[in-house]
Amino acid sequence: MKTTLKALALSAALALPVLANAADDALVKRGEYLSKAGDCIACHSAPRGKPFAGGLPMMTPMGAIYSTNITPDQQTGIGQYSEDDFKRAMREGVAKDGHNLYPAMPYPSYAKIDDDDMHALYAYFMNGVTPVKQANREPDIKWPLNMRWPLKVWNMVFLDKGVYRDKPGKDVAWNRGAYLIQGLGHCGSCHTPRGVAFQEKALDESGSAYLTGGLLDNWFASNLTGEHNVGLGRWSEADVAQFLKTGANQHASAFGAMTSVINNSTQAMTDGDVAAMSRYLKSLPAAGGSGGPAYVYDAATTKVSLTRPANDAGARVYTAYCMHCHGADGRGFAPMLAPLAGNPNVLEKDASSLINVTLNGTEDLVIGGVPAPYPMPRYADVLNDQQIADVLTFVRGGWRNGAASVGASDVAKVRKATQASR
Ligand code: HEC
Ligand code: HEC
Ligand code: HEC
Repeated sequence: MKTTLKALALSAALALPVLANAADDALVKRGEYLSKAGDCIACHSAPRGKPFAGGLPMMTPMGAIYSTNITPDQQTGIGQYSEDDFKRAMREGVAKDGHNLYPAMPYPSYAKIDDDDMHALYAYFMNGVTPVKQANREPDIKWPLNMRWPLKVWNMVFLDKGVYRDKPGKDVAWNRGAYLIQGLGHCGSCHTPRGVAFQEKALDESGSAYLTGGLLDNWFASNLTGEHNVGLGRWSEADVAQFLKTGANQHASAFGAMTSVINNSTQAMTDGDVAAMSRYLKSLPAAGGSGGPAYVYDAATTKVSLTRPANDAGARVYTAYCMHCHGADGRGFAPMLAPLAGNPNVLEKDASSLINVTLNGTEDLVIGGVPAPYPMPRYADVLNDQQIADVLTFVRGGWRNGAASVGASDVAKVRKATQASR
């Protein structure tokens, strides 16, 4: 153990991959796996940038900040971090020089990662990642909001220190799933609603807001509790696992911010870990949603509007632009082409994701290196705000989905907010 650490320290000092033996190799491999489970690459790489060199802009309520270089480069990366420095950054959000990190880095979740996994992650970042010289970019936040000391207060109030402890009375798979979802997976950083101070309203299932859905960057990350309309209540454990492995199942397809989670992270996880995460999610009692009766498929009235689309502005757009993929029956050709009938995202009260995906389409889902054959197209230049409002109102009301209508002003808002990123 001692020699391993020394070899690691030495290789870190030289910024060279000096691997003493097969045991170290296995440790680095495990660290690489964990870095995928934690999806470090999604935030720490810019589009077309070098892996882990940082520079991705991220919006906070105060302005944009940029992810940092976590390659082992000595000057611009984390090459000079000791393992303790690394752990402190991951669990307490404090950089080596002592400045506090913004909680856009999900350290409130990573605080739950245990020492063994931290050790493997550190080994990987020091020995398995190519050093890249790329200076960090200062946040665009103006004085006085750019002062970082208030983050210390934020941490005192909201940071729940302490690694994950197995919950008695729960089986091994449940605890493994809880550990991954709450910790490395940081699923709550998108799927849990945030409070006034940008804090996640709950960090585990003991809080009723946990994983009930949250809006971030114009995507609404769905309710993952057992709620039967907008949540995962109608999904089996196998359905959840299929979604995390392949990005699609009979109920829905991944799009928006979830696409990169599937592309970089969950599809690379072992079947055992994916099954454990599914087990844990399916154990969450229903929360959020409207409390209405469970969705039951019905195509009769929608069929009538689709045979006489002239009477219905939304049905007209649907037959012309959407029906050949999503079907007259609203069932699409799942899992290849997403169904819209009964789809939890379609039933969700907040229509942001639906508007965003219709305006901007989606980044390709890439499974096992193969991009999705028929990705959702982008309609921002084809349909105006009113047409998109009409077709989504039709979709939300069709096949007995029973969700509220969408207004042209809602579409205009998302169009404006997402235009800059295109
Ligand atoms: C959701 C986005 C996100 C994810 C996922 C993420 N990070 Fe970060 N991380 C950030 C941001 C943003 C910063 C810089 C924050 C700041 O400057 O205040 C940061 C900072 C860091 C730092 C401090 C480095 C420095 O000197 O600034 C380390 C170390 C780090 N991240 C490691 C990791 C590791 C390891 C993972 C995966 C297990 C990871 N991060 C996943 C967003 C993320
Ligand atoms: C960067 C933000 C983000 C993170 C992190 C994230 N998700 Fe998501 N997720 C979304 C968004 C947005 C959606 C809605 C779009 C969709 O259905 O793909 C979603 C959808 C889902 C769905 C489909 C729900 C439905 O009703 O269609 C599942 C299941 C899911 N996420 C599980 C997870 C798990 C498990 C994790 C952690 C390992 C996770 N997500 C992490 C943003 C995120
Ligand atoms: C070329 C086939 C195609 C066409 C045409 C198409 N879509 Fe899609 N749509 C998809 C696919 C595939 C997905 C799943 C996300 C992905 O993998 O890109 C999707 C996803 C969606 C979703 C999110 C569903 C979910 O899984 O939660 C909505 C809403 C949607 N489409 C609405 C529309 C509307 C409205 C139109 C017409 C204006 C339309 N689509 C036209 C292929 C298509």
